[in-house]
Amino acid sequence: MLYLIPCVTILLLCYPIYYCLSTRHDIPGPILAKISPLYRIYMFLSGQGPLKYFHLHKKYGPVVRTGPNHISLSDSSLIPIIHDSKQKYLKSASYDVFSPLYRGKPIDTVFSTRDAGRNRRLKATLMENLTGSPVLYKSRIQNSVDVFIEQMRGIQGAPINMFDWSFYWSFDLAFALIFGCQLGYMEKGSDFNKWIGTFKSITNGAAILGHVPSWCPWTVGNDSFMSLMRRILPFPDPTHEFLQEIDTRIRDHDMQRQHRCGDSILCKILEGRSSQENTEEQHTQLISTIFECFFATAADIGVSINAVLYSLLTNQNAYHRLVRELRTPKQPSNPTPTENNPFFTAIIKESLRLHTPLSVPMERVVPEPGLQANGYKISPGMIVSISQYSVHRDREVFGLDAELFRAERWLEADPIALRRLNRNFIAFGHGSRICAGRELGMHGIKMFVASLLERFDVELAVAPAERPPNITMFWLQDHVGFWAKVKECDV
Ligand code: HEM
Repeated sequence: MLYLIPCVTILLLCYPIYYCLSTRHDIPGPILAKISPLYRIYMFLSGQGPLKYFHLHKKYGPVVRTGPNHISLSDSSLIPIIHDSKQKYLKSASYDVFSPLYRGKPIDTVFSTRDAGRNRRLKATLMENLTGSPVLYKSRIQNSVDVFIEQMRGIQGAPINMFDWSFYWSFDLAFALIFGCQLGYMEKGSDFNKWIGTFKSITNGAAILGHVPSWCPWTVGNDSFMSLMRRILPFPDPTHEFLQEIDTRIRDHDMQRQHRCGDSILCKILEGRSSQENTEEQHTQLISTIFECFFATAADIGVSINAVLYSLLTNQNAYHRLVRELRTPKQPSNPTPTENNPFFTAIIKESLRLHTPLSVPMERVVPEPGLQANGYKISPGMIVSISQYSVHRDREVFGLDAELFRAERWLEADPIALRRLNRNFIAFGHGSRICAGRELGMHGIKMFVASLLERFDVELAVAPAERPPNITMFWLQDHVGFWAKVKECDV
């Protein structure tokens, strides 16, 4: 009878594995992904998560299991279903890691909230302040670009770390938009208060942690844990310091009501606020809007101009054609060729297609009655995401050269093909949770790149074949170590 004990123990130990394999055998994927959520963390820890998802899709097809409850999809016909306009597919708990702690509690932002109604309310406030201010933001972008150009004049000829400088510019721009003055990264030529570096490390860590959101209440979502980290770690917490900065500025504004408010998004919001609106809930909403505006502008525009510049410098035909167009004397009939230049727009789209800024999967929860995807039934409650990396390289849509940079594909396509290209382009997301700042983002990228290339010849400081930049994909796709040289031209 004794021999029964080890047999029963083995059976008990094996049953969970058998259960996972047998009930989930229908959706293909690596065995480890079927039995453990750790497989997804393992893929992202390498800093090459999206590329690994792409390889999984090549091996297993358009529907791949990446975790016991997670499915990755690469069929673009599913984009409008998963990223629908009515928010039937809600964001998953992975977004909780992007809710900052304010007064000891995590606050929802437009980006992080999982509640559809709350998203609509927060987004309306944000959009009102963004779309209502194109004059404000265009002049702020221009001011920040002017400072950048001036700094480039001073350091031309020497290798410049474009990765760092793109973020000096975008962080200064974000601060200027919100508070009306730059923080001084460009002026000092360094990440002097270590916000940029620390922000990158925190978001990279959050991208990993987002794969196990149940840890969030014990870590980034926990005030005691974060306070302890701030005490023991030798670098600042930019989110905490930025939230304190907003509080200080609101207090200053409220105490000096009679003073004229500056020309900034914060002042615009504060001046439009009536005294009855000053409840705790509305105050938190205001904080969340400002926070979102700052970090989205600083991070996403910075990473996007890196993508565009890197694509241009590694594709000389596109670079020379764009430079020629930008330096052609402006016609009275078309005084703003930057905005009305289809080739320029095509270059930006092609760059963001191949170097998609957001690297983490945009996870959504499958609602009742489940999802039918390429012959597989995905149950309600399962978490699905469209692999941006894969749909951006779909050969049936982008052609056999889908993995190559070729901006002309956006200009040559007939209306039906162009609709397909656009449908497969999800660098700004899709549906009701599409990026709220895409117009501001596109303006920022265009004004930055155009101003730089109109005045300077730019080239890679080190040829990619000798020492390519290290492209890491955690939360964002970063071109770490992207060096360039600039030389003022005679135009
Ligand atoms: C130019 C570069 C930018 C890129 C590539 C980009 C990309 C994205 C993507 C992919 C999403 C969807 C995320 C998801 O569904 O999980 C998103 C959402 C969002 N973005 Fe951007 N973004 C950019 C610039 C900005 C700027 C400048 C702002 C300024 C306010 C902004 C604010 C937001 C907000 C608030 C959301 C959440 C929208 C919602 O959930 O309803 N973004 N962005």
